[in-house]
This record gives sequence, C-alpha cells and structure tokens, in this order.
Amino acid sequence: MAEKTNIVLLGFMGTGKTTVGRLLAGRLQKTLVDMDEIIAERQGKSIQDIFEEDGEERFRKLEYELVQELAAREHLIVATGGGVVLDVRNIEEFNRTGLSVCLMADHETILRRVKAETHRPLLEDGDKARRIIDILESRRPLYEAIPHRIDTSDLPADKVAEQIIKMFRA
Ligand code: S3P
Repeated sequence: MAEKTNIVLLGFMGTGKTTVGRLLAGRLQKTLVDMDEIIAERQGKSIQDIFEEDGEERFRKLEYELVQELAAREHLIVATGGGVVLDVRNIEEFNRTGLSVCLMADHETILRRVKAETHRPLLEDGDKARRIIDILESRRPLYEAIPHRIDTSDLPADKVAEQIIKMFRA
C-alpha cells in the first residue's frame, strides 16, 4: 500500500480542528484544507445558507463528494466539519491515504469555545448548551470509534499538534 501522507482532523465543532490544522500545516509543510471553507466557496454561499436553502442532506452529499476528492490527494492536513463521522464511508475514504485523528473535548469546553459564534446552523436551532450536549451524546460512539483520539479540553493547540506529529511519525 502507498504511504499515507495526509492527516485528517475529525471531531465535534469547537474541538480545535482548524486551529490545530493550521499549526500542523506550518510544521509539516503540508497544505491545509478546510472542508467547510471549500464547500462554501464552491457553492458561493455560507454553510448556514446551504443548510437553510438546500437542506442538511444536500450539505452531507457535498461533504461526501469532497471527501472522495481530498482522499485522492497527498500531503494534506484536512480540517473536516464535525459531522463527517456521520457517514462511515467518509472515514473509510480518508483512512486509505491518511492518518485520521479525532479531537475530543467536554461539552463545557466546547460551549466556551463556540458561544460567541453564530455560523454553525446546528447550534443556532435552540439553546446552544443543550444542542451541544444532545448532538455530542448522539455522535459519541462515532467519535470514539476513531482509534487515534486526543482530548483537547485542557491542552493548548501546540501541544495537540505535537502529539499528532508523534502519532504521524510512529
Ligand atoms: C457541522 C460542523 C460544522 C459544519 C456544519 C455541520 C456538524 O463544522 O460542517 O455546520 O454537523 O458538526 P465545524 O466542526 O468546523 O464547526
């Protein structure tokens, strides 16, 4: 099998995928790809508008198509959207060419990190703290099924990046 050169960051919203992705890209001289950013750019509208106007199902399809495209490339750091784990095919695709690492955090930490932000449609629909707990619990088995996981609740982003680099080189 060909060498795996990508690092794929999975995990719930607010677990630090984009921040850690930026650090990894700089340190390993790989290209950072933020899936939400690409999807929004290609659709010419925000993720929120895609959810509102086209529906979550359409967003998940765009996500799956982009996973297939990215898994065929090399030397990427991929910051995924938190719901990528909902489709097991996404994880299978990514695992062909990269190391998948799931960033974890407890719900209080997540709330603290995302509470001032308004761009995540799934968290704008009702009480944010409640939404985080509910969605996190429903997805927990999916995140816990990823063999490489790091709890970022009490760990600064540069330490998280360091751990991932160790995993990648191991
Ligand atoms: C989602 C997470 C978001 C974005 C969309 C749906 C999810 O990405 O893809 O709002 O289902 O968890 P982040 O994890 O980067 O916030």
